[in-house]
Parts: sequence; C-alpha cells; structure tokens
Amino acid sequence: MERELLVVDDLAAAAVGLFLAVEPASVALAGGSTPRSFYEALAKVDYPWKRLEVFFGDERCVPPDHPDSNFGMAREALLSRVPARVHPMTACDAAAHEAELGSVLGSPPALDLVFLGLGADGHTASLFPGDPALEERSRWVARVERPDHARLTLTLPVLSAARVACFLVSGREKRDRVRDLLDGADIPAARVAAGRVLILADREAAP
Ligand code: 6PG
Repeated sequence: MERELLVVDDLAAAAVGLFLAVEPASVALAGGSTPRSFYEALAKVDYPWKRLEVFFGDERCVPPDHPDSNFGMAREALLSRVPARVHPMTACDAAAHEAELGSVLGSPPALDLVFLGLGADGHTASLFPGDPALEERSRWVARVERPDHARLTLTLPVLSAARVACFLVSGREKRDRVRDLLDGADIPAARVAAGRVLILADREAAP
C-alpha cells in the first residue's frame, strides 16, 4: 500500500495544515509527547468545532488528571479551549466505548482523520508487537495490559476504516521505524491500511 512521507521543519504547523485540508467531521487524536504542540496550535484555529467528534487512538487506564492520561494532555492543549464533542476513553470500558463509536460514527466506524504516533518498537496507538490486540479482527476497541498501566486502543479494523491516517513522528530515534513504515515492514504501524496514509516527519526522523 502507498504511504506518503512529508518531511517538514514544523510538525505542528504541518499537522494543522493537514487538518484544515481534510476538514474532518470526526478525528482521533494521538497520545504521547509529539502531538502536544500541534494541539496547542490547533486550538488557535477558527474551525466549526461544535460539529467535530473527537475520539482517541488509545488511552491509559488512569484518571484524566494523571500525567500519563492522553485525554488529560489533549484537554490541556486543545479540548478545554474549543467546543468540540469529545468522547474520551477514560472510563476504560472497551465495550462501552465501542458502543459509543458505533452510535456516533456507524458500523464500522469510519473516522475522517486519525492522528497516530510511532513508537521506537514500531507500535502505534496501543498496538504493540506480539500483543493479541494487534490480531483483533472484529472488535473496535481492545484492552491491552502493559507494565505501566492497562490501556484501551482502537483496533486495526477501525484505524484502517479511516479516510486519512497521519503518523506524527519526531526525533532521530524514530528514523529506522519511519523507514520500516515506508517499506511496509512487519511492525504494527505498517498494518494501518486507511484510505490515505501519510507520515509527517521532522528532519531528525526522516530516513
Ligand atoms: C501513547 C500513544 C503511543 C505514542 C507513541 C509515540 O499514548 O503513548 O498512543 O502510540 O503515540 O508511543 O509517542 P511519542 O510521541 O511520545 O514518541
């Protein structure tokens, strides 16, 4: 499958540009540290926020004010500043979140735009190498046990049903994984087969 690599100086500005070009009515946000400056930049944009349905690619099973909460980070940087319709995973209930996805987006849930991170081990969202969640074919949300916290993650059927998936990648330590992603190597991130798959990488992450 085709993946487009865009190497940019300013990841946050490029991601805002993509968001405005896609004009999503529904989006899934990435966790991790990379997207924070993007969310802060996005918060300043004039957009029909009230019509935007916001989901998350994954979440740790922690309270929203915990430093590891993806929702907490996104709320601080973006969601407390714009009137979007937010669907956090913070209840950490896979079945309930799956029902919410279906009621908002239909079946299968097709998000307009999904932002994803890329781990140094090739994981994306909370789909880790060798984890059973990676093989999920029917459920839309899976619970994943990790050494730090249990997590919820969107599964490949949902990520691949998206119109556009965009990996946001920063830093030298990700460079080999960006290469793997472009080559379609056997890493979880390379299994995301959305309508359009883009990789926004800063200069350090570009192979
Ligand atoms: C998370 C993510 C995870 C993340 C990557 C990259 O919540 O941790 O969903 O997939 O996006 O690990 O994280 P960084 O941006 O911090 O490198």
